[in-house]
This record gives sequence, C-alpha cells and structure tokens, in this order.
Amino acid sequence: MIYKTLGKTGLRVSAMSLGTWAIGGAGWGHTDEKACQEAVAVMLDAGVNLIDTAPAYNGGEAEKFLGKILKGKRESLVYVTKTGTQYVNGTYIRDNSAKAVRRQCEESLRYLDTDHIDVYLVHWPDQNVPMEETFTELNRLQEEGKIRHIGVSNFSLDQIKEASCFSEITVAQDQYSMVHEKEKEKLCGIHELGIGTMTYGSMGAGILSGKYREKPVFDAGDMRTTFYSFFEEPVFTRIQELLKEMDEIAKRHNGVSLSQIALNWSISKPYVDTAIVGVRSAAHAQENSSAAGWKLAPEELNLLDDAVGKLQVLMKG
Ligand SMILES: NC(=O)c1ccc[n+]([C@@H]2O[C@H](COP(=O)([O-])OP(=O)(O)OC[C@H]3O[C@@H](n4cnc5c(N)ncnc54)[C@H](OP(=O)(O)O)[C@@H]3O)[C@@H](O)[C@H]2O)c1
Repeated sequence: MIYKTLGKTGLRVSAMSLGTWAIGGAGWGHTDEKACQEAVAVMLDAGVNLIDTAPAYNGGEAEKFLGKILKGKRESLVYVTKTGTQYVNGTYIRDNSAKAVRRQCEESLRYLDTDHIDVYLVHWPDQNVPMEETFTELNRLQEEGKIRHIGVSNFSLDQIKEASCFSEITVAQDQYSMVHEKEKEKLCGIHELGIGTMTYGSMGAGILSGKYREKPVFDAGDMRTTFYSFFEEPVFTRIQELLKEMDEIAKRHNGVSLSQIALNWSISKPYVDTAIVGVRSAAHAQENSSAAGWKLAPEELNLLDDAVGKLQVLMKG
C-alpha cells in the first residue's frame, strides 16, 4: 500500500480508502452483508486504513455495520464520517443546524462503537443555516474530544474559505475521477492550502471498471443513475472511447484490470491524498487494492490525461 499525509491532520492514510455508501444497502441494488464483511477484511489486509462513511448511507446502517465488524480493529483505523445530511424514508434531507450536527455526532459515535471520530466532515453546504452556527458546534464537539479533525465535503473553494473563518478546516472531500475531472483546479487550490484531500467516485460508479460496455438498466432510484450521470447518453458512449484507451494500457501491463488503471490514475495525482472506492465483494477488494502494487508509466499517465481532457470537453458540449 502507498501512504500519504492527509494535509494538516498529519494522519498517515492509505492512498486508497474504503467507501461504504453501497455497503449501507440502499440505492445500489442488492447488497450482501457477508460479502461486504469479506470485502472490508481484504481491504484492511491490503493496508487500507481509512474508512469513509456517513449517517446518510441508509440512515446509519453503514455505520452500524462498521461498528459491528470492526470490533478490536478501531485503533489502527482512521474513521471519517459526516454530518448534516440525513436519509429518511428514501429521501436525503440537509440540515446543518447545531442541533442536528450534535445529534448526528452522538449517533455516529454510538453506531461506530467508538469514543471519537478522527475526521468529521460537513456532508454538503446548507444555504438555510449560517456557517457560523454549524462550525461553532463542531468546535464544541472537538473541544469535548468527540471529533479530532473538522472538514467539509462538496464545498466550493469560497465556501471552504468562509468555513475557515470559524473552524480549522483540515480535510475536504470531492468527486474526482477519470470521468469527473472538473474538480481538478479546486482540488489543487485546496491542497495548496494544506487541506487534506479525499476524492470520491473513483470508479465512476463502476463504469471505469469496464464492466459496462452495454448500457446497463438499474432499478428506479439507483444512485448510479440519480447521483451519477455516466450512464446517460451521450456521456455513456463517449466514456466507451476512454475505456478503449484503458484497454490498450491494460494489455501492456499483462492484462491488469481497468479498475486498477482508474485507481492508479487517481492516486498518482499529488493533489489527491486518498481516493475512496466503493467495494462490497472480496474479489473487487483484491483487484482494487492490488492497484497500489504497480505504477502507470509517465507516458501512460500523459496518454490517459489527454483522453480524460478530451472526454471533459465532449462532456461540457
Ligand atoms: N461526500 C460525498 O458526497 C460522497 C458522494 C459519493 C460517494 N462518497 C464516498 O465515496 C465512496 C466511493 O464512491 P461510490 O461508492 O459512490 O462510487 P465508486 O467507488 O466510483 O463506484 C462504486 C461502484 O464501483 C463498482 N466497483 C468497485 N470496484 C470494482 C471492481 N474492481 N470491478 C468492478 N466494479 C467495481 C462497485 O460495484 P458493485 O456494485 O458490484 O459493488 C460499485 O457499484 C462511497 O462509497 C462513499 O464512501 C462520498
């Protein structure tokens, strides 16, 4: 495993981390608990030490699952969870009020079966609550030792600067992958401020693994089509061209998987401290964690960057 320092937190974290949205079991088709447990075990054995979760992942189910299966392992792990977004009866509700933040924090501590959260992120900005209220409450939770580091997710650079007037923001989480490169500038800016960067959607909701060469049909309300847009036309067809470039590179590396190429690309970026990937089978965990065992050559990275750049232009058009 490759380890990087998560910005000003000083925490040494694995360059790829475990995402648990699908593990939560809502909005991602069928989730098998035993397979998820095996997947987590394989990721940890491979040296992954950062777990990303949220109360919004099926109303706390992902956190409860982690609390149950990680007993005895907590000390060696970095727990990142979030606040301000709830999942109630299939709907995501934003509430960054002090009251909601405190209640969610207490629940996360209980569900995760821990006395502190290493990194606590505000999941999404909330226009209805002044930042001062949210971050003042987070400072209190920090003083009480319930959370160690404060961060944000899905905040613009300006919003991060505003939040920094109230709390020390040490981590930011954003979507970033070969099919969603548009946050690059923002991530570079965040990184320059010494803020640790966590990137999500590293597998483009699965499309970068190459398993969807034909347009898939997901259940209504599946997050792969409601939250992500890679399965819509004309984007889906355009991404297939990128996959062909990745196929060529895979051949040069004795048939490594496309998932490994996608992860290698993300973790090669100096402004990405850890790339989160959603994993819920031992086979995927094995395949993904092996990505840290080899590197893309500089000319291959250039080739991929060109293809990613062209895709972004087409996606804007
Ligand atoms: N802060 C935020 O607002 C935010 C938003 C989204 C996500 N996140 C975090 O980031 C994590 C990662 O993002 P994500 O889970 O949304 O998307 P992702 O990691 O881009 O994609 C997950 C999908 O990739 C598939 N996959 C993973 N490895 C694979 C492999 N080796 N071969 C084939 N398919 C593979 C999974 O397949 P299966 O369906 O077969 O399991 C799953 O459907 C989340 O779990 C969550 O922790 C945060």
